[in-house]
Amino acid sequence: MAELILGQVLSYHGDPFIEGPSAAKLDPTGGVLLLGGEIAAVGDGAALRAAYPQATVTDYGKALISAGFIDPHVHYPQTAIIASWGKQLIDWLNTYTFPEEMRFADPDYAADIAARYFDLTLANGTTTVCSYATIHPASVDAFFEQAQSRGLRAYAGKTCMDRNAPKGLQDTAQSAYDDSKHLLDKWHGQDRLSYVITPRFSPTSTPDQLAALGALWAENQTCLMQTHLSEQPDEIAWVKSLFPTARDYLDTYESHGLLGMGGLYGHAIHLDPREVDRLTEVGAALIHCPTSNTFIGSGLFDMETMVARGLRVGLATDTGGGSSFSMLRTMAAAYEVAQLRGTALHPAQLWWLATMGSARTLRAEGKIGNIAVGSEADLVVIDLASTPAIEQATRRAETIWQAIFPTIMMGDDRAITAVYVAGKRV
Ligand code: GUN
Ligand code: ZN
Repeated sequence: MAELILGQVLSYHGDPFIEGPSAAKLDPTGGVLLLGGEIAAVGDGAALRAAYPQATVTDYGKALISAGFIDPHVHYPQTAIIASWGKQLIDWLNTYTFPEEMRFADPDYAADIAARYFDLTLANGTTTVCSYATIHPASVDAFFEQAQSRGLRAYAGKTCMDRNAPKGLQDTAQSAYDDSKHLLDKWHGQDRLSYVITPRFSPTSTPDQLAALGALWAENQTCLMQTHLSEQPDEIAWVKSLFPTARDYLDTYESHGLLGMGGLYGHAIHLDPREVDRLTEVGAALIHCPTSNTFIGSGLFDMETMVARGLRVGLATDTGGGSSFSMLRTMAAAYEVAQLRGTALHPAQLWWLATMGSARTLRAEGKIGNIAVGSEADLVVIDLASTPAIEQATRRAETIWQAIFPTIMMGDDRAITAVYVAGKRV
């Protein structure tokens, strides 16, 4: 049964970091036809109504219709410890994160948190996430079972750690390989699910474990690989002491087969020129996590340089190191971080990062992240006047971008009018 939804439709036919805001198309009286889980037609609302008289029509008026948000770096097991006070990265991991992740030894707890996590992300208009699980294989099952039952396109992997973590959170090089392979065989390519090979970061993996996961990646080249890179200066100094012969932090991955085009490198703030060169040469993806970087005190990601070098960059919450489940709040933080570096990101660029930019990092740009014929029908409908503060600012807008920007800066889950997953309203 076809459904036609009407509103202000936002789509992209190019990259706004290359072409500027004209890479976006905003149709104030647009329509999107949903059929069989996909976008079957996009165009003028009245014309689509006439062309598809049998479709049921939902008119969202002046609301914005966009591709659903894509959050390519999250830790669903950290849902309950979001907004934990007073620590920087290593202390934050030891004080809050590792004790919470220990609780995922209980599969029922994992299932509860996975359900809570997807309730929160969908309420915020996020239709695809790429998550770290914990070291427990059942935490991966819990994530994928929830995502599958909700019809979501979703990415995750078992977090691997064989040193510098509590004993109850350690695997070994061999068991990390075996468990990851088993989960990959079980979930990768099922429905809309993808397995992601997941060494947490170099400090918590021995060279043997990094090499084992590098081998697994080489054997499974359709999988993505995710990890953390150069988030805080203390962490980088620690990596140097643990890998004394490495040229730099990136080399600890590169020399173990963990650098490639399907690699997602979270944070990537304090990089040496060689690291930027190598990331660029292999076409790796960087994931910017601005609410996390300010909350944990990590630093200011250099968006301008990374996009100028042609690196694919995604935008992510990094919950629970990040302080919000909202990609609107995350766009606002990206704007603020760029301002502190002297760059004003355009709303067309911020929105693109949260949709197409993030889809590209997941190598899923033909499937999700844009409103285009043939794309999967994961959509969000946004109220551009969701609070009195936003409404009064928007009332003055002379352009659509002026009307959208107050929602980027001040919006939250109250702005989410509707969410569609594979063409069904959820
Ligand atoms: N580095 C290693 N593990 C983590 C994590 O869970 N969160 C963040 N922000 N950084 C990390
Ligand atoms: Zn992270």
